[in-house]
Amino acid sequence: PDALEASILIYGASGDLTARKLLPALYDLWTDGYLTDRAPIIGVARRDKSNEEFRNEMFDAVSKSDEGITREKWDAFAQRLFYSRLDIDQPDQYADFGNDIRQLESDSGVTGKRIAYLAVTPSLFVPCVESLSQSGLIPDPEEKDWLRVVIEKPFGRDLDSAKELARDMGRLLREEQIYRIDHYLGKETVQNILLFRFGNAIFEPLLNQKYVDFVQITVAESQGMEGGRGGYYDTSGALRDVLQNHVLQLLCLTAMEPPAKFLAGNLRDEKMKVLQALKPGGDKISDWAIPGQYVASERGGESKKGYRQEDRIPDGSNRETYVAMKVKIDNWRWAGVPFYLRTGKRLPTRVTEIAIQFKQPPMQMFRTVECEGDVCDLVAARPNMLVFRIQPKEAISLTFSTKRPGMQYQIHPVTMDFAYEEAFEMKLPEAYERLLLDVIRGDNTLFTRDDELEAAWEFVDPVLEYWEGQNIEPCGYEAGTWGPKEAAELLYQAGHSWRSPQV
Ligand code: BG6
Repeated sequence: PDALEASILIYGASGDLTARKLLPALYDLWTDGYLTDRAPIIGVARRDKSNEEFRNEMFDAVSKSDEGITREKWDAFAQRLFYSRLDIDQPDQYADFGNDIRQLESDSGVTGKRIAYLAVTPSLFVPCVESLSQSGLIPDPEEKDWLRVVIEKPFGRDLDSAKELARDMGRLLREEQIYRIDHYLGKETVQNILLFRFGNAIFEPLLNQKYVDFVQITVAESQGMEGGRGGYYDTSGALRDVLQNHVLQLLCLTAMEPPAKFLAGNLRDEKMKVLQALKPGGDKISDWAIPGQYVASERGGESKKGYRQEDRIPDGSNRETYVAMKVKIDNWRWAGVPFYLRTGKRLPTRVTEIAIQFKQPPMQMFRTVECEGDVCDLVAARPNMLVFRIQPKEAISLTFSTKRPGMQYQIHPVTMDFAYEEAFEMKLPEAYERLLLDVIRGDNTLFTRDDELEAAWEFVDPVLEYWEGQNIEPCGYEAGTWGPKEAAELLYQAGHSWRSPQV
């Protein structure tokens, strides 16, 4: 590949995101030849630290994800790692900070191309941008020099605060300078949804209300509140943490129309149209949005804590660790097709998938024998199903009916599987690697635009207001199970049921 370059400032250089994701991704990009040898990477944080200390800390961090790393190769990479101290609360430091950065950039020979990754708590997004501005690090829009700012959710905690953030950032930056990361869009298999749909002729004609019975999107996690996350999580919950962003992005990619061109603006316009057509799947909120919370369980000799017993969770917290929703997309293509969405912590396994179940053939000519214990019955064929397995064991599978060998016409369901691991003998790139490269390239296709973000908040806001305003008690589910029975009932009414994906 052609190696690219920019100077990359990482605010929050002492934090977890920098160590766990950003530096390993930048190191991999350099290893794979996407990043030049000289592009400076400058860690910015409050504490006093030498370049050498910063390099050593980052060596430890990158070694955790890359066991094959050698000191020699690291040293070749690390010569462009620098550290610049800045206390955001001390505006009197801004001028020196700006000079320091410009000096490092000109010494490296990489000027006029700057990225600021704000790996900091969201309340510092605006102060960080202020610091960039007052240090003279935001180029004039008339100049050809550029600055791109990368931020990661939460982008506000409801529609109003999201608008406020957009307004405050907008005072100093133009929309095209802001790269809002949703790391799901960086996943290889998520990007493949678009290629599968619009790069093949045979599936797309079937993906509409004429043939599709319903769609299910699952983002399940087996983990709970590990790593001291309880404090943050209790202010957020499953709806804000995962559904509002990752799940709705998956929904957009599954349901959107083909864009006029494969360009950021066209693609984001189509996603936006899906969000505009998104409607609740029932009258009252409790008819279509179910909050759940895991409770203690004893299963298979293993005891698991309930959410309220986890560290840093207040007694009696009504924060949802699970959410299931029935929604509709009221447009020409999808009218009448329910979309079932769910995400949760402490479910039986970690799996993300999109399952599209097709309608039965218009005539049921064939039956099959299915037995439960000694009782056997003649039943209709299982409907066709197309499943995108986003993670783990990334795959696409299609279930269809065949004739069971024998003297009768009996149906037997079989599955055609495409597994990434078997088809491509290579490691799938990490989401952050792809997204960071896109920021350097200036391609914001895989980032969320401000209007998409607002539309997503607009949709979930009434649900949050109802749950929090009325202090609704979430429905309990035992840790390690597939969620509360109320979520199952959401589908039973329509004769549907949730899948229990086996990984
Ligand atoms: C994050 C959420 O955005 O996504 C976490 O804040 C969640 O709570 C994570 O665990 C899931 O991401 P992935 O890539 O592990 O599926």
